[in-house]
Amino acid sequence: MRGAADGRPLLVAGNWKMFTRAATAAELAGAVASAADAAPGADVAVFPPFPYLSGVAAALRGSRVALGAQCCHDRAEGAHTGEVSAEMAADVGCRMVLCGHSERRQAGESDEAVGLRVRAALRAGLVPVLCVGETLAERESGAADRVLERQLLSGTHGLAADEVRRVDVAYEPVWAIGTGRTATPETAVAAHRTIRAALVRTFGDAGAFPRILYGGSVKPSNAEELMRSEGVQGVLVGGASLDAASFRAIILAGAAARS
Ligand code: 13P
Repeated sequence: MRGAADGRPLLVAGNWKMFTRAATAAELAGAVASAADAAPGADVAVFPPFPYLSGVAAALRGSRVALGAQCCHDRAEGAHTGEVSAEMAADVGCRMVLCGHSERRQAGESDEAVGLRVRAALRAGLVPVLCVGETLAERESGAADRVLERQLLSGTHGLAADEVRRVDVAYEPVWAIGTGRTATPETAVAAHRTIRAALVRTFGDAGAFPRILYGGSVKPSNAEELMRSEGVQGVLVGGASLDAASFRAIILAGAAARS
């Protein structure tokens, strides 16, 4: 199905996880900014660790690259030691935030908590990137579609149509993250179809708007094929986004895939 998301540029996003230091983060951001200038056809975003957001924001000033946080609390402020709110992330220049990354779900973040964080992101004016994905055991037992639908529906629970239009989704099969085992384009296409169908069933026309990204061992050698696959509207890259040359190649692949 071709929907509103297909008319938008592909999004190439780099999740830096718990890597980099202040100096290397700023250096990498500079390299990403120049790669984005070389690929005006693709949208580009980076998600650095919290302590480096301000430094990366400075390095990205005037560039085409959107800044994002890797998580946010559901409250705007309060006695929540160690937490960071969506409002705080917006205050230092973020435009996006990852919600429900599988590494956080594995550390105990529930479906319900992810849904609250998505709402918090929207309240703060950020674009939430709702991450969903099944484990290997879930895929092998035939439960993948059910898991994706459950994570998607609880992550978007209670949103109005005009809110769901501002959400992006990332399909990240847990078995493909950091393993070198990328989903085949066929697997990604089928999962993206399941996600889109659930969005449209739940939100009608508005469900056609969220971009659905693929994540899990994306690298320069497979990025363009994945991004040329039906219903794949971008990629969320972990390991390869930490290497300036690799991430540049993936950004260029994003621009090429739409040309
Ligand atoms: P890798 O690209 O290292 O597999 O990580 C994917 C990911 O988790 C992005 O959020």
